[in-house]
Amino acid sequence: MILPHDRTLRVATPGQPDGAARAAEARLAEAVGLTASIGVTIVHEAIFPLRERRPSTLLGEGQVQAAKQAIADQRVGLAVVDAALTPVQQRNLEREWRCKVIDRTGLILEIFGERARTKEGALQVELAHLDYQRTRLVRSWTHLERQRGGFGFLGGPGESQIEIDRRLIGERMVKLKKELEQVRRTRGLHRRARERVPYPVIALVGYTNAGKSTLFNALTGAGVYAQDQLFATLDPTMRGIRLPSGRRAILSDTVGFISDLPTQLVEAFRATLEEVAAADIILHVRDVAHPDTAAQRADVLGVLAEMATGPNAALDEAWEGRVIEVLNKADLLGGVGAVPGMNGDANAVAVSALTGEGLDDLRAVLDGRLSANLETVDYAIAAQDGARLAWLYRHGEVIAREDAEGEVRITVRLSPADRARFEQGAE
Ligand code: GTP
Repeated sequence: MILPHDRTLRVATPGQPDGAARAAEARLAEAVGLTASIGVTIVHEAIFPLRERRPSTLLGEGQVQAAKQAIADQRVGLAVVDAALTPVQQRNLEREWRCKVIDRTGLILEIFGERARTKEGALQVELAHLDYQRTRLVRSWTHLERQRGGFGFLGGPGESQIEIDRRLIGERMVKLKKELEQVRRTRGLHRRARERVPYPVIALVGYTNAGKSTLFNALTGAGVYAQDQLFATLDPTMRGIRLPSGRRAILSDTVGFISDLPTQLVEAFRATLEEVAAADIILHVRDVAHPDTAAQRADVLGVLAEMATGPNAALDEAWEGRVIEVLNKADLLGGVGAVPGMNGDANAVAVSALTGEGLDDLRAVLDGRLSANLETVDYAIAAQDGARLAWLYRHGEVIAREDAEGEVRITVRLSPADRARFEQGAE
């Protein structure tokens, strides 16, 4: 774990061809924010342009020595290298610098581990962590393999330490997967229970630190966890809200997106995004004051597009039509009027979740969007069936009503989801 170390050195390694789109400074700022979010004190930051990737240490010899000096001078306990390190590189740097070294994947796994707020989230992260460790064992320790024959209870005769470790990790992973299945079954039951709550769902998505939790609080008036920490929202939180028309909806706060998500976490991420797939509206919260806002937008849309096309596609093809962009942090640009790119776009609303400016407009847009796809339907309902009638009044807009002998003929506007719920016998 990282927390015992209170002195951290940040080493960023930009200039990689694959990450070239992102300016080195912005990339460093993001990495610093991620590191700060696990509660360590950052005492030094540096950008080291890579001319080549050295297999032994990634960084060049001069860079390794420069960092070593800074680490010694400031008595640093942990160095975070914002790149993927091979296990060998990680160990060589630890030896050279005499402090703990973690790479981007290790950092993100730590963050996810701390931010997991549900049992499912915690299990997924532990599983991802073990998977990461297991590959490190395989690759880094093979040449160190120690034969440890003789003691049957430590594994079969001749079983090497690496094999024992790998087997123990494997067993723990099998156990975790079983637990996860159980938790998912329970969650499936909860979701079905929620489906019977007949309100449309609005899901918040957005790049990490875009302001999702702050907006969630501003719209619901609830005091959920929001602070200047990344990934406050690994697991979904749901709250009811009432829109100006009186219509009710459920607001769902989901995960913070991030670039270069470690492969071990993609699966965990996908599971938490199921909430998004089921939503009636996808609110894409953006930090318009961030220098990297366009790249962040592309990252988020890229992940959503992947969800719509992947082998286990969670989103249906029409997802793009369900997105509304919230251009947040308008206060930092001088107010909602100063936010560029609005051009009367009906699918974007400028707001400040912090000051509340623009939130009324956002509520009106949500109302409009939810009523735009209402369907007009006629029903004949037995007069004594008061509960079903009341349901229609609660969830739809009743346009006409005719009371006849023994039955009520009613014309009502309902969302497609509500219509399906009603026709399946909702009460
Ligand atoms: P993750 O949980 O990491 O995904 O973050 P998030 O998107 O939920 O962001 P959060 O709501 O925690 O906000 C991140 C930081 O931005 C906090 O310091 C907020 O106070 C700040 N913030 C959010 N909205 C606004 C805004 O409209 N204006 C300004 N100036 N700051 C904001």
